[in-house]
Amino acid sequence: MSSTDMNAHKRTAAREAADMVKSGMVVGLGTGSTAAYMIERLGERVAEGLEIFGIPTSDDSEDKALKAGIPLTDFSAHRRIDIAIDGADEVQRGSLNLIKGLGGALLREKIVAQAAKRFVVIVDGTKPVDLLGERAPVPVEVISFGWECTAELLAACGARGVKPRTDRAGSLFVTDTGNMILDCHFGPIENPEKLADKIDRIVGVVEHGMFLNMASEVLVATPDGVEHWEP
Ligand code: A5P
Repeated sequence: MSSTDMNAHKRTAAREAADMVKSGMVVGLGTGSTAAYMIERLGERVAEGLEIFGIPTSDDSEDKALKAGIPLTDFSAHRRIDIAIDGADEVQRGSLNLIKGLGGALLREKIVAQAAKRFVVIVDGTKPVDLLGERAPVPVEVISFGWECTAELLAACGARGVKPRTDRAGSLFVTDTGNMILDCHFGPIENPEKLADKIDRIVGVVEHGMFLNMASEVLVATPDGVEHWEP
């Protein structure tokens, strides 16, 4: 599939999800190229009179939302989110478990998804997998103190080639919250709950990118249209 086609598919799913939003809602605004199309569409709808508040999952999405004219709020004013809409790096067929965080925003994305009554995931047809980890690493956000020890403990969980994420220039990637990301290649993950439990026990881990039993529905854009998947 060409990148033009893929972007067109992402945009279709994103706009359909944005059209689920109703006036009065608090909306979780995801991060990434697919979520950017959703923010763009919400901005158009706000200009047409839709009354919402957004809670962005990253500094980048905050910038995009402000440019699109979407009024923003935060958890000090609203503890619950009516609908959160975000992309994903992998979606497991059947369970709708996800890997997220290749864009580096997994921590805020997971807090927003957890606070959401409805968590809608928007992906193109390259994202579904039979088992998580088939293609994507599991990004793990860790504090920088002692990251070398944290990396060894992640390797003991089965991760290969654990190393800090860097940007294109080779500089250390720092999350919006000031932490590092260790990309962990596990290969196909037979039991994500068990692996998540092991990773959660490691001191130094802030959060990992497996979103288990969180998605309410997934919109998968294919050449034949948008499929709606529910767990
Ligand atoms: C951001 O941290 C990620 O979780 C994104 O949601 C994910 O990487 C999907 O990004 P794209 O929509 O750009 O594929």
